[in-house]
Amino acid sequence: MQTAGGPPPPSLGRDAAMQYAAWFRALAEPTRIEIVSLLARRQEPMTVGQIVGAAHVGQSTVSQHLKVLAEVRFVLVERRGTAHYYRLNEACVDGFPTAADLVVGNHPPAPAGLSQPACDPPANRPAPAGGAGGIAIRPLEPADAGQVLAIYQAGLDTGQASFETQAPSWEEFDAGKLPGHRHVAVAADSGAVLGWAAVSAVSGRCVYAGVVEHSVYVDPASQRRGSGFTLLRALIGSTEAAGIWTIQSGIFPENSASLRLHERAGFRAVGIRKRIGRHHGRWRDVVLMERRSPVTGQD
Ligand SMILES: CC(C)(COP(=O)(O)OP(=O)(O)OC[C@H]1O[C@@H](n2cnc3c(N)ncnc32)[C@H](O)[C@@H]1OP(=O)(O)O)[C@@H](O)C(=O)NCCC(=O)NCCS
Repeated sequence: MQTAGGPPPPSLGRDAAMQYAAWFRALAEPTRIEIVSLLARRQEPMTVGQIVGAAHVGQSTVSQHLKVLAEVRFVLVERRGTAHYYRLNEACVDGFPTAADLVVGNHPPAPAGLSQPACDPPANRPAPAGGAGGIAIRPLEPADAGQVLAIYQAGLDTGQASFETQAPSWEEFDAGKLPGHRHVAVAADSGAVLGWAAVSAVSGRCVYAGVVEHSVYVDPASQRRGSGFTLLRALIGSTEAAGIWTIQSGIFPENSASLRLHERAGFRAVGIRKRIGRHHGRWRDVVLMERRSPVTGQD
């Protein structure tokens, strides 16, 4: 659908389609719709007990539904003392109608300032005037090797990204990363590679066939513009579509940018692996972060 006389709407793209499908799936349940509606109308954080009282369903059912809604970040959880409070993610209030508009080909309204964790993948928001800062996601190609490995090395040089100190050759990189889940973020105007994300298998055992370990690296000159978040969204979309149920990564506790990015993208800290490996001769801890898909591997 298109407004007569206006420029054609941007194409939706496979990654966005998969992301929106995950949102719609999360909402495709009447009790979850009731919970979202309740939180929207109440306009203040509620405990599970308050939601149970208002929704007239059992506590374990409410908790289960809140978990699914939190995974796609429709609902945010905050801790006050020993209690957990649930509230609607205001960014989703903007982002969800935007998703619906994009699906049917309407130009979406520009989302109002998103101070909350975003529901709307930045890559699918309208690019700012002039295109500067616009980010697009596309598959990582062999021709990107030079830029990808340079960005990798810049991340390793921070000393906070990985135990590795030297970026691999393209052949080693290519051999270690699963096809179908290698993405680059590129500047929409120049096509320059801003960052990349890719996954490796964690095990050859079939019980772990749906578990992968990922890496995400963004050019230092392009950080804090949404590339990392957009890349993780793309990774979540492609892995869920391929039946992968868990994405994990070990992150140094000092890498607060990566920890925060992953929290925002729906990952949780499993725990801290103490003095797990030596880096430049020093034993270091690693925070194991994981995202268990709320839609894949549910049978
Ligand atoms: C971690 C990294 C990938 C983040 O990429 P990015 O494109 O800068 O991240 P985004 O712009 O998408 O940021 C998304 C959110 O992550 C968090 N974040 C990102 N950088 C941050 C920083 N320096 N400090 C605190 N929070 C940060 C914020 O919550 C941010 O949202 P906001 O900007 O709305 O507050 C990037 O810093 C990087 O490449 N670092 C070096 C390599 C590395 O450490 N990779 C991870 C290995 S585990």
